[in-house]
Amino acid sequence: MKHHFSTRIAGAKRSAIRELLKLTEQPDIISFGGGLPAPETFPHEEMAEIAAELIRENYKNVLQYGLTEGSKTLRRAVCEWLRPQGIDVTIAELLVTTASQQALDLLCKAFLDPADVVFCGLPTYMGAVHAFTLFQVDKIGVPLEDDGMDLDELEARIKTAKDAGKTLKAVYVIPDFQNPSGITMSLDKRKRLLEIARREDLLIFEDNPYGHLRFAGEPIPSIYSMDDEGRVILLLTFSKTLCAGLRLAVMLAQGDLMDALVRAKQATDLCTSKLTQHIAAQYMLRYGLENHLKEIRPIYREKRDAMIAALERYMPAGVGITWTKPEGGLFVWMRLPEGIDATDMLEDAIEHKVAYVPGASSYVDGDGQNTLRLAFSLVTPEIIDKGIRRLAEVVRTTIEAKQVAAGAR
Ligand SMILES: Cc1ncc(COP(=O)(O)O)c(C=O)c1O
Repeated sequence: MKHHFSTRIAGAKRSAIRELLKLTEQPDIISFGGGLPAPETFPHEEMAEIAAELIRENYKNVLQYGLTEGSKTLRRAVCEWLRPQGIDVTIAELLVTTASQQALDLLCKAFLDPADVVFCGLPTYMGAVHAFTLFQVDKIGVPLEDDGMDLDELEARIKTAKDAGKTLKAVYVIPDFQNPSGITMSLDKRKRLLEIARREDLLIFEDNPYGHLRFAGEPIPSIYSMDDEGRVILLLTFSKTLCAGLRLAVMLAQGDLMDALVRAKQATDLCTSKLTQHIAAQYMLRYGLENHLKEIRPIYREKRDAMIAALERYMPAGVGITWTKPEGGLFVWMRLPEGIDATDMLEDAIEHKVAYVPGASSYVDGDGQNTLRLAFSLVTPEIIDKGIRRLAEVVRTTIEAKQVAAGAR
């Protein structure tokens, strides 16, 4: 049989993070790998009740096909939730998707042709890189600073790409507690990014799964709420705010952009599961998503604190190891001394029964070998302490081996 694969799929690699997730199934490994939300935050009793009631009493509706745009009850509930946050929209601006990963796929289908340019962070979310790669998009990385994307660099890279005759389409940003770095984009940068996008006629894909998991500091307005031209598309998933297994997100977009996304979704899955949409909607109406978020934020803060304290306690000092201290989200980002390869080190780490995500896969320019992502979300503070102690040991021996090898040369 000859190979029938598309050129598109030939270029797409299996997700290293998905492969890593398999490790979390081994009970003796402490995994800081997959960015899974903490199961203790799932309101499972309430959901069990809602689901049973919906299926028994409303099965003709909730077990049926639904609108491509999504359930009106859910979209109305989301509008009510967003309004006090300064995002005042009607349901016409909302498209329910089968979580944000589908939203990324729809962005590609609706707006990106092969070789079109999307600018993204160095590092950025691997799942977005996979989607862009599948659609043969030209991904141009822009370094991150402590307050978000380096916009001078963005402007420089826009110029170079334009001079090379490329078609520039969009900037992809994760403004709050970015995956993988935990970095948040400042208000000034959000405003300036919007100005650059206006001047260069670019779309902004604002992907924000973690903004509602802020457990310290003050919220910063979304770029979407500052846009008066309809060039920003905002992705808000329920995966981290409610439950990942619902596979639900909303996309906010205006006018023609929304129309294109709806057409793309019609060809993708007709509609998102009506059952999970109604479960989420009923949960929001009965219990309030904001009340739920108030309860779960301290859980993540405690885990973040445990991770930062353990890093400070165990990591070798004075050798140039740094890490971020995010004010929300699920991730701490660690930079090892130059020359240490976190991908190579992973084998050793797994032998020591601890896992993380090597950072290189989050860099579209092949850089980032000495970086890694630590998710503090899934394990308890006690286990975090134990896992970081193991990791510190691995880091220490890796650095020492490197020094010995350098001395022997
Ligand atoms: C930045 C970002 N976007 C999108 C997703 C996809 O999430 P989901 O498909 O569960 O909504 C994730 C998941 O980790 C993410 O970190």
